Amino acid sequence: MGAEAVKTLLIVYHSMTGGTRRMVEAAAEGAAGESGVLTRVLGAAEAGPEDVLGADGYIFATPENLAAMSGMMKDFFDRCYYPALGRINGRAYASLICAGSDGENAARQVARIATGWRLKPVAAPLIICTHAQTPEAILAAKTIAQADLEKCRELGAALAAGLALGIY
Ligand SMILES: Cc1cc2nc3c(=O)[nH]c(=O)nc-3n(C[C@H](O)[C@H](O)[C@H](O)COP(=O)(O)O)c2cc1C
Repeated sequence: MGAEAVKTLLIVYHSMTGGTRRMVEAAAEGAAGESGVLTRVLGAAEAGPEDVLGADGYIFATPENLAAMSGMMKDFFDRCYYPALGRINGRAYASLICAGSDGENAARQVARIATGWRLKPVAAPLIICTHAQTPEAILAAKTIAQADLEKCRELGAALAAGLALGIY
């Protein structure tokens, strides 16, 4: 028997004030506990169709900006959607949303694109709110509570474990 094939988890994200990035770091930490999974973390601008095609599962992470996913994440999906369409059916994904007070619309948008790709959601969207209200607070660097980072870690660990076991 040869060694188990390594599965690849691709995490694509954008973050303006650091909240989504912290969530992604925690999810990647969680996934790192799984030896049979290689986790690749790419910023939305550097990720392309080959990265999408080369992965076995995905985490898409975005802030909610103006009741939508961030423009950089939209650009990633715009560039990758048709090159990957029909070639990644059935693969597992989860989404992380960092929002001020809502996040539902960004989550819906990501889910809709993932449905078009025929991806399989392995969890409900994980929405973390930073509760920034004033322009100053919204533009300030974000910290994410440890309890929320733990949820991100658990999601990363669960997705990686499912990939390693061949459940997804
Ligand atoms: C231009 C802009 C628009 C925003 N619009 C929303 C919004 O529609 N809904 C919401 O819940 N938060 C909104 N926010 C707040 C961000 O989602 C929040 O600050 C989040 O922490 C950003 O994630 P990041 O730190 O990864 O950039 C907005 C922030 C900016 C800068």
